[in-house]
Amino acid sequence: MPAELICFEERCRARFAITDVIYNCPRCGGLLEVWNPPPVAPPADLKRIWRERRASNLTIDQSGVWRYREIIPFLESCSRVVTLREGNTPLLNAPHAAEYGGLDALTFKHQGFNPTGSFKDNGMTCGVAQALRLGMRRVACVSTGNTSASMAAYASAAGLDPIVFIPHGNIAYGKLAQALEYGAKTLQVEANFDQILALVRTLAERLGIYLLNSINPFRIEGQKTIIVEMLDQRDWNPPDWIVLPGGNLGNTSAFGKALRELHALGFISRMPKLAVIQAAGAAPFYDLMRAPERGFHAVEHPETLATAIRIGDPLSWPKALREVSCSCGVVERVSEEEIADAKAVIGRCGIGCEPASAATLAGIRKLTAAGAIPRSADVVAVLTGHVLKDPDYIYRYHTGKLEAPNGTPIHGSFVNQPVIAPHDAGRIAAILQSNTP
Ligand code: F0G
Repeated sequence: MPAELICFEERCRARFAITDVIYNCPRCGGLLEVWNPPPVAPPADLKRIWRERRASNLTIDQSGVWRYREIIPFLESCSRVVTLREGNTPLLNAPHAAEYGGLDALTFKHQGFNPTGSFKDNGMTCGVAQALRLGMRRVACVSTGNTSASMAAYASAAGLDPIVFIPHGNIAYGKLAQALEYGAKTLQVEANFDQILALVRTLAERLGIYLLNSINPFRIEGQKTIIVEMLDQRDWNPPDWIVLPGGNLGNTSAFGKALRELHALGFISRMPKLAVIQAAGAAPFYDLMRAPERGFHAVEHPETLATAIRIGDPLSWPKALREVSCSCGVVERVSEEEIADAKAVIGRCGIGCEPASAATLAGIRKLTAAGAIPRSADVVAVLTGHVLKDPDYIYRYHTGKLEAPNGTPIHGSFVNQPVIAPHDAGRIAAILQSNTP
């Protein structure tokens, strides 16, 4: 039986061919997901095969996404897959961050080690594979930066034409630079992410462009492998908690789907809980979880310096709601200062990440203080983007110039000022001997 597209809504569950170019259910407008036929081989065999592929020199096996192809079997053949060796991201122990977060131990799954420096690569290799299969020439996304960087790279590598829509003035330079360098036609639109996405969705059909936002269910399939690889690296021993930042909530949907599928197929015997962390100025999902009876309400003017998650109307909230509830998880929100300090702590571990990723550690600190996560819990936090995505933020933090979106100065607790030194050996020696720089 081939894979199919299926409406996510319980009351609909309409099924469509895997090759239909649709992003929402044509019947009820609900979100779509990929339904996969269960793998033929039992979990024990697949675990062994996946481990053996790590030593293989086949390009497809070297991908930390396609290595697990039996869990994402939506293509008839992988012969046209374009991979940049995505995935293969490390698990890093961070004792100093654990202490800051109120935990005995903490592991980071660092998605910043991907080819374009973010977790988007896991999904993009799948989205672009589907675009090729459908014979689409032009692909587009609306992005707070990382999706555009990733799409630009994978589309260009595949010989497609990438078109990127980004909010003018509100994305980190590293990400804009990548979109340009990888050859995307880049439109800086004078509107926020949510407004541009609404606009582009109407344009896509009219112009025959294939949309590669996380509403695209094939991207979600690829992002599932972040969880599969993490469990493989842990010899299939699930952690108690998986903590991740929430923006458009595609990753939350992907992680939840991966965990449910792996559990149902017998790869793991228990489900980790998901903890989703939002920036306080862009936290509609937090608001929903706190008062579900009031329903979902978009934040009209989302604000945060963690521009990757500056999203007020996340498309995937219904899926994310199901996944967080299914895992008995939680949603937390953190302030600009909490994100900035947590980020500096992750930096001091020698690890580093971009601002949105640091929301994880800030959230862990709050959740342990509130008793929601016990000190002894086995926690994996997903760092979603590379430290060099947003160097301007780092420079401002360490020079005391970082300001919250409302203009309030952020007084960082871990500021590391650069010292301007004269061209004078004696005075440099004096600076190095004194305790205060
Ligand atoms: N962290 C980073 C570094 C991101 O770039 C994003 C999303 C998220 C977290 C949130 O993930 O949307 O799946 O909940 N960036 C998107 C983009 C929106 O356009 O690059 P999410």
